[in-house]
Amino acid sequence: MKALLLENIHHLAETVFNNAGIEVEMRPGALAEDDLIEALDGVDLLGIRSTTQVTKRVLDASPHLSAIGCFCIGTNQVDLTAAVDLGIPVFNAPFSNTRSVVELVLAEIIVLARRLTEKDRQLHAGEWNKSAAGSHEIRGRKLGIVGYGNIGSQLSVVAEMLGMEVYFYDTDDKLALGNAKRCASLEELLDVAECVTLHVDGRAGNAGLFGAREFGRMRDRALFLNLSRGFLVDYEALATALESGHIAGAAVDVFPNEPKTRVGDFASPLQNLPNVILTPHVGGSTMEAQEDIGRFVAAKLRDYTHLGTTTLSVNAPELTLAFAPGHHRITYFHTNTPGVLASLNNILADHGANIDGQLLGTRGQIGYVVTDASMAMPQDVVAAIEALPETIRLRLIG
Ligand SMILES: NC(=O)c1ccc[n+]([C@@H]2O[C@H](COP(=O)([O-])OP(=O)(O)OC[C@H]3O[C@@H](n4cnc5c(N)ncnc54)[C@H](O)[C@@H]3O)[C@@H](O)[C@H]2O)c1
Repeated sequence: MKALLLENIHHLAETVFNNAGIEVEMRPGALAEDDLIEALDGVDLLGIRSTTQVTKRVLDASPHLSAIGCFCIGTNQVDLTAAVDLGIPVFNAPFSNTRSVVELVLAEIIVLARRLTEKDRQLHAGEWNKSAAGSHEIRGRKLGIVGYGNIGSQLSVVAEMLGMEVYFYDTDDKLALGNAKRCASLEELLDVAECVTLHVDGRAGNAGLFGAREFGRMRDRALFLNLSRGFLVDYEALATALESGHIAGAAVDVFPNEPKTRVGDFASPLQNLPNVILTPHVGGSTMEAQEDIGRFVAAKLRDYTHLGTTTLSVNAPELTLAFAPGHHRITYFHTNTPGVLASLNNILADHGANIDGQLLGTRGQIGYVVTDASMAMPQDVVAAIEALPETIRLRLIG
């Protein structure tokens, strides 16, 4: 087995693969389409970050490729449908930077509550301003978390440890952690919170979630943070609310149109406003998150390779079948039509193979079944399964 890792993926990934007996080639940069096709010759596993584009043309030209790991959160850079249509599951690291985001949110709440960016600028300019006016502790302050998922719920726990009183609103019925209080509506949360922070996901329906109406509903002199998605918030409306003094400070990490390169052409209505922290989408960017992403995604690819496990794949049916040593495992991607499982099992039965374990998962047009048999599959069994019209990809493990 061979893995090709592009774009400076953390070396922990290489360690995970080496420990699993998988040969690794590391390359520092991304590859353009033709170079990628050439580099994928004989490669089983591909690891990328956000720059490398894995198109249908790349996938069609790489018959050896069996799985892809996006060593990041987003997976838009891969044609996910084309991949799963070829029986190629794609994995990412949805949770690895959760803690990094939580820590930045808390740091920014403290910085905003103490108006530290202003004090910092003043002293750099020579002004010694010791005034406590407008500076507050966060202890006992009411934090309103919108979106109580991986990040929102972890923030809830750590914010309480700092003495904040936590309120949250989520469209799903989420378990309240610690002493956090669930709000029945966004309005209820806006009425109570002294600091509002957004942690909802990027579903299309969330576009424009926060605008003039919501800022107007927030408590006077409240703080606002968005480290989730840029298109959720009307930043013109936020700038107006900041300029009027109704909102006392804001921290923003995500923007509707984020520059692709480092050159200085970023523009936002929030620039140069007092007590506003702007960061270039770095909420999850820490060395610790990179390390965890390296470990997490490499382990997903290893488990798919050695066990056929697809749990947390972003495009394939998700399943995990516990492996009992001594068995012979068949993993089978197929088109999701009635009767495929029966056809597979009939072939095995016809050849005297006893099925000791089996799990089927489906996702849209794709089915995936993992079967453990007590005997190694003879070539005629493999050929019979491969000849089924629904077959996409068959792998034998063990
Ligand atoms: N700034 C960064 O660097 C960075 C890093 C990681 C994640 N993120 C972003 O942070 C956000 C949260 O990430 P996560 O992993 O916690 O996501 P998640 O999917 O675990 O949680 C999102 C939660 O929001 C809830 N939700 C969705 N729409 C809602 C609405 N309109 N009102 C109330 N609740 C709603 C969902 O039910 C879910 O519980 C995502 O948008 C993600 O892209 C940003």
